[in-house]
Amino acid sequence: MVRAVSTQPGGIAGVFDRAADTYDRVGVPWFAPIAQGLVEELDVQPGERVLDVGCGRGAALVPLARATGPGGHALGVDLSPRMVERTAADVADLPWVQVRVGDASAPELPPASYDVVASCLVLFFLPDPQAATRAWTELLVAGGRLGATTFGPQDDRWKRVDDLFTPFLPPQMQDARTSGRRGPFASDEGVEELLRSAGLEDVRTARRTVRATFADPQQWLDFSWSHGQRAMWEAVPQEQHDDVRDQAFALLDGWDDLSFEQDVRHTLGRRPEGHQPSENA
Ligand SMILES: C[S@@+](CC[C@H](N)C(=O)[O-])C[C@H]1O[C@@H](n2cnc3c(N)ncnc32)[C@H](O)[C@@H]1O
Repeated sequence: MVRAVSTQPGGIAGVFDRAADTYDRVGVPWFAPIAQGLVEELDVQPGERVLDVGCGRGAALVPLARATGPGGHALGVDLSPRMVERTAADVADLPWVQVRVGDASAPELPPASYDVVASCLVLFFLPDPQAATRAWTELLVAGGRLGATTFGPQDDRWKRVDDLFTPFLPPQMQDARTSGRRGPFASDEGVEELLRSAGLEDVRTARRTVRATFADPQQWLDFSWSHGQRAMWEAVPQEQHDDVRDQAFALLDGWDDLSFEQDVRHTLGRRPEGHQPSENA
């Protein structure tokens, strides 16, 4: 599980602080198309109040904000101060959007104050995804919608590249890519159950596929440093970085097609009208 990035300097916020400047900006459309799928599934209407927990560089926040428009309100929260700083600058021309530092595990926001809570590729970083889902549910008005995006299974061929990092990863980082074979993120049903046991109803999964394409191995390398995979690089001793990179390039140089398809899972639910606040929220 990626919560293991807490072994890195500054924990997970440190990893994303260091990634923030190039996150989703290395010429490989990836987080934006993934988040776009979530935004479409949430079907945000003009005037709605929207919260994006773990907003990163705004891949979901910006289209959510455009959907709600100036008559609504959009708030992005992220643990990484650098992500927040960069995203706040990016949305400066959208005055109905705010971005602030905060913990998705325990957002300090008034209950029942959002029509929509979105969280794209964040839930698997949290120490207690169940408690977080419950806390997000409490932030929804009756009838409000929650959408959480996670990954489906990984492409087998590209797993060989990730496997180059395995010898360096502490046990708790072995499944850093977050889907895994056990736990709630191993299946659609596992994530659906997280939402159901938080008190949501009409829970469903929308599956989409997103393709990443690299112009050359160097672009893959830049990409790998620009997001959560950075934690895997940072687990490799500095003096062995060139060796791991060379092994990766040797694999990639042998492939005609430097692209992969990723299954993306958007799990959606609605807060029932008669929902009782959770004692643990
Ligand atoms: C893979 S990125 C996803 C960012 C964005 N939602 C997107 O789709 O591009 C994960 C984000 O979650 C943030 N994050 C991780 N743990 C968090 C926490 N406990 N509270 C708030 N944000 C967190 C990271 O800083 C990072 O920006």
